[in-house]
Amino acid sequence: MTIAAGAPAGSAGYLSLRDVAKSYESSPVVDIAALDIGEGELFALLGPSGCGKSTTLRLIAGFESHDRGGFWLAGQALANRPIHKRDVAMVFQDYALFPHMSVFDNVAFGLRMRRVPAAAVAERVSAALGTVRLQGFDHRLPRELSGGQQQRVAIARALVVMPKLLLLDEPLSNLDAKLREEMREELKDIQKSTNITTIFVTHDIQEAFALADRVGVMNHGRIVQIGSSTDIYCRPENEFVATFVGQSNIVAGALTDGPGAEGRFRSNSGLEMSVTVPRPARSGAPGKVFVRPEHVRLSDSPPAHCNAFEARVLRRTFLGESKRYVLQVGNESLVATTTEELPENGRVKVYWREEHAVFIAAESN
Ligand SMILES: Nc1ncnc2c1ncn2[C@@H]1O[C@H](COP(=O)(O)OP(=O)(O)O)[C@@H](O)[C@H]1O
Ligand SMILES: [Mg+2]
Repeated sequence: MTIAAGAPAGSAGYLSLRDVAKSYESSPVVDIAALDIGEGELFALLGPSGCGKSTTLRLIAGFESHDRGGFWLAGQALANRPIHKRDVAMVFQDYALFPHMSVFDNVAFGLRMRRVPAAAVAERVSAALGTVRLQGFDHRLPRELSGGQQQRVAIARALVVMPKLLLLDEPLSNLDAKLREEMREELKDIQKSTNITTIFVTHDIQEAFALADRVGVMNHGRIVQIGSSTDIYCRPENEFVATFVGQSNIVAGALTDGPGAEGRFRSNSGLEMSVTVPRPARSGAPGKVFVRPEHVRLSDSPPAHCNAFEARVLRRTFLGESKRYVLQVGNESLVATTTEELPENGRVKVYWREEHAVFIAAESN
């Protein structure tokens, strides 16, 4: 028997992972140096398909064994505990409801396994169904429910055992677009009202941004940045995050002064601008500046301390609620999205704020 060690030194996490790795047939699938999640936090693990998100949840829940590293939940080591002694509940992408059991029996299952007395089962199932707004559905079978209702039964079944940690694997991906947005809000409300520490996995950027307190972006088994939605979108620390979470204009060049949180940048084509540097880089470091299309603004009188340039409108595309312009700025062609009306071939003044020009050194990737 392994003696449970306390949480790793220096961790502030309710859930902590340290140096957790897993390979399948000698190809690494998960390799997480450190992850700390606070009590009551709603944390999104965001990344492209195949990057190791589900495997990470399965390792934490104990459905999969890890090759290396440790997990701690509420100060207790998890790694050598059997699944049912981890106080972790997981909702799978396909819900995995028992098809021949009623809603009530599905939700009651975990409590009966734990030999909770019948009266308490009835009370707790009823409360869990109330939380997910499914009162009165006790006797239905899963096939008599919509996708969204089945999803809520799966969540009730996880909540009813009052886990210390709730793991949701792409919980909304089987729902159609409108329902997905409604369930987003509902999921957030349920999580806030129960205050159960939750990790949910998604490849949907908007879903992660809309739901999560913090987002961890994953690529090739590693967590490549952790932060608030705004941090991830506006202050990406590497090229993968910058391009995965949204479109950007990308200008190659070098930092002309550094190190610091702000700097000057000169592009290979000769454009000079002030930039923000989320991950400080040395003076002279080659790299790229990323400017999101909605941050390229148009004005004859740009505010002070902005990067301002003359531009020519090369192309215009109508997108409904906005328009997309291809602009020639110096020798670069840059995209701007705006509601403003510009003449094709016209000359305009454009600007973007220093904080919206993000420098990422080549060596940060
Ligand atoms: N049981 C398994 N055996 C072999 N390879 C697996 C197994 N499970 C997952 N993988 C591989 O591990 C990688 C990560 O998978 P997964 O964690 O499901 O990614 P995600 O959930 O981010 O889409 C993928 O390349 C997948 O093919
Ligand atoms: Mg998956």
